[in-house]
Amino acid sequence: MKYNLENKTVLITGGNSGIGKAAAIQLAEMGAKVVIACRSQERGKKAVEDIQNISANANVELLQMDLASQQSIREGVAEFLSTHSRLDVLIHNAANFDQNLKTPVLTEDRVETIFATNHIGVFLMTHLLLDLMKSSAPSRIINVASKGLVMYPNLDIEFDNLNGERKFSVQHAYYHSKLAQVMFTYDLADRLKGTGITVNCIRVTNVAIPDERLTHLPTWLKKIYNIKRKMSITPEKQAQTYCFLAADPAVEDISGGYWDETNHQVKSNKHSYNRETWQKLWNESSRLSNL
Ligand SMILES: NC(=O)c1ccc[n+]([C@@H]2O[C@H](COP(=O)([O-])OP(=O)(O)OC[C@H]3O[C@@H](n4cnc5c(N)ncnc54)[C@H](OP(=O)(O)O)[C@@H]3O)[C@@H](O)[C@H]2O)c1
Repeated sequence: MKYNLENKTVLITGGNSGIGKAAAIQLAEMGAKVVIACRSQERGKKAVEDIQNISANANVELLQMDLASQQSIREGVAEFLSTHSRLDVLIHNAANFDQNLKTPVLTEDRVETIFATNHIGVFLMTHLLLDLMKSSAPSRIINVASKGLVMYPNLDIEFDNLNGERKFSVQHAYYHSKLAQVMFTYDLADRLKGTGITVNCIRVTNVAIPDERLTHLPTWLKKIYNIKRKMSITPEKQAQTYCFLAADPAVEDISGGYWDETNHQVKSNKHSYNRETWQKLWNESSRLSNL
């Protein structure tokens, strides 16, 4: 489905790879100004060139930002605000799933790296951009979670383990951070009622990861990824849901939804609907992001 996104500005994190890059290309093809927020200047510049060439849209820019660093997020957003007068769509696509992390590693802000990148960074960046999004309304925020969460039906936010101090594995920290994304979506959607900003979350399915992202992994893990790839969809296919939520008029007024790769709403796990947990998570996220 093609939409007309001329005069719309889209900011997408992690637009240099995988689903984020595929979505950036599709959004640029529809005429949007696309800003990709990336931690690496080198990978970001290369991606901007690719996206411009493939989409035939020169209106693609790089914003350097490391989501694991609150200073970098603050500086990146300040730069964005000084150079852009509107923001129609904000897509929090980037995420850390670093299989090399064997123990919790704290960022410079003293937050465990996966939780810092996949949740606290998202929380902080959203807050810093809210005024601009309100003045650009109707506008849309899109968060990204994972279908893998269905394997954790009893997972809840572990307030005594936000930094992995009680137990840690990459998988656990990753799904915990993605559950936080689901709850943050529901809570923020509620809080933004009446502002003209909608907030939705995508339940990303098993999507093929490009070979170049796997080079650092041990052989046994590469084999697992290669098997998974046979059952996965392409980044381009999953990116269509990003575009649907970013642009389709049918979802203009829908907020607080959790969406699968066929653009249908799905349920999340039982604990994700607990409003008391939303509030507690909000308080902890405000504290950890120094807002
Ligand atoms: N692929 C799947 O099967 C799958 C399944 C469920 C959910 N998801 C979700 O889908 C989204 C996209 O995943 P993908 O498959 O496209 O993965 P990907 O190709 O590995 O892309 C991840 C992106 O996030 C960026 N990133 C990681 N840490 C960052 C940081 N600290 N600051 C800024 N950017 C950072 C990466 O940048 P670098 O190039 O610098 O590393 C990269 O651009 C993620 O939210 C992921 O959790 C994917």
